[in-house]
Amino acid sequence: MKIIIINGPNLNLLGKREPEIYGGKTFEAYFADLQSKFKDLELEYYQSNIEGELIDKMQEVGFTYDGIILNAAAYTHTSVGLGDAVKAINTPVVEVHISNTHQREDFRHVSYISPGAKGVILGFGLQSYELAIRSFL
Ligand code: DQA
Repeated sequence: MKIIIINGPNLNLLGKREPEIYGGKTFEAYFADLQSKFKDLELEYYQSNIEGELIDKMQEVGFTYDGIILNAAAYTHTSVGLGDAVKAINTPVVEVHISNTHQREDFRHVSYISPGAKGVILGFGLQSYELAIRSFL
């Protein structure tokens, strides 16, 4: 089974960025944990700060992979283009957030990703990604 985690803007700074919200671990370290936990899966990781690159990646993997775990970060709340990409592809997308966006500012309560997503997992810290993987199994 082939699953890709796609992370959007500023998630390359996990570990340093607002650790009181996002924790103190880098995504690279967490991804290594996931790979050793799910040895039977082909797990991939992609991150970009650029909206168009995220859309390109969704199109590239979205007809052949078994699952996409998407944390579109700030673009969640702004990007019609990414929302359309989720709807345009065949591979199911699980939307993930580290924080509980509904406990935060009002602008984070809107998601352009959710309408096309298979499901949404948020608020469990980095563990949200593991729960998303398990949802595909
Ligand atoms: C986030 C929540 C977004 O509102 C924010 O812009 C992020 C991270 C999360 O994982 O909690 O960058 O997607």
